[in-house]
Amino acid sequence: MRIVKKRRRVSIIGAGNVGATTAQKIVENGLADVVLLDIRDGVAQGKSLDILEAGPLMGFDTRIVGTGRYEEIADSSVVVVTAGFSRKPGMSRDDLLHKNGEIIRDVAHNIRKFAPDSIVIPVTNPMDLMAYVLWRVTGFPRERVIGMGGALDSSRFAYFLSEETRTSVSNIQSLVMGGHGDQMVPLLDFSTIAGVPVRKMIPAERLEAIVNRTRNGGAEIVHLMKDSSAYFAPAAAIYSMIESILHDRHRIIPSSVLLEGEYGIKGAFVGVPVRLGNQGLEEIVQLPLSAEESSQLAHSAAVIAEGISALKRLFNDFSA
Ligand code: APR
Repeated sequence: MRIVKKRRRVSIIGAGNVGATTAQKIVENGLADVVLLDIRDGVAQGKSLDILEAGPLMGFDTRIVGTGRYEEIADSSVVVVTAGFSRKPGMSRDDLLHKNGEIIRDVAHNIRKFAPDSIVIPVTNPMDLMAYVLWRVTGFPRERVIGMGGALDSSRFAYFLSEETRTSVSNIQSLVMGGHGDQMVPLLDFSTIAGVPVRKMIPAERLEAIVNRTRNGGAEIVHLMKDSSAYFAPAAAIYSMIESILHDRHRIIPSSVLLEGEYGIKGAFVGVPVRLGNQGLEEIVQLPLSAEESSQLAHSAAVIAEGISALKRLFNDFSA
């Protein structure tokens, strides 16, 4: 008997810069087939066709379908959520929370209906809060809702460390925990260059400058690009998470997951190091933090908890 093994399917909701770039990486590397979905008619279809037309040049046979119909996300192993808006001038944090919260609530209903066994990767900002919405509305176990944040923040940190020390990025291990955004907590004792803790390699004031640059990594890009936010590095961060899941590699990648007492935090999605395999979140890695790092993490979690309270008020505790 001939065994026909179907390629895995990854769906991406939102065919904007982050969604389409992630789709391109997945398809070009032959990792999975992709369904790219967007609410704007023709955008997902057009970008998918454009990516497929590169197949003969790049030599890939993986497929991508552009669509506006949620039926097509059926049988997805992973669903990445990038749909939504970024904050515009004059928009308050609550405005954005409301606007993206509504979009994500709708997306979550559709994921629950059409891809009930998938692992969801929330990306839309404010990511830690949108992860909470996806978790609440899908009703998925926490093992299957894993937000992208720490992978990107850690990669930015690692890149700046490599630039500072003129050392290959392959020698650098870096770890950033906490909320995705200016609440992040870079862990210097767990960030090393060829195994040597960064504090032993880089003077304190330079290290502080690098940490600050990492904290503002997203804003630095928006400042340069003006009408767009980052998408190449975010897409690479999403890709690395999906690759560890689909290939069951058990890589430890900092991601935003629902904490149930780990690190002394309960009921909020916060960035922590997690092991990712084909069941999704396999383990939350508990590190011995210094007193200062613990208090920074607690502060970060408190800010996220306030956001969750605001979300519950805005959405009537998701009872509708
Ligand atoms: N359903 C599906 N797609 C939607 C919906 C919806 N309800 N609402 C908006 N979209 C689509 C838009 O049509 C657009 O194509 O989401 C896409 C968002 O793309 P961009 O505006 O290019 O934003 P992008 O840079 O990709 O960032 C997406 O990721 O990193 C975060 O902060 C970033 O929240 C933002 C998200």
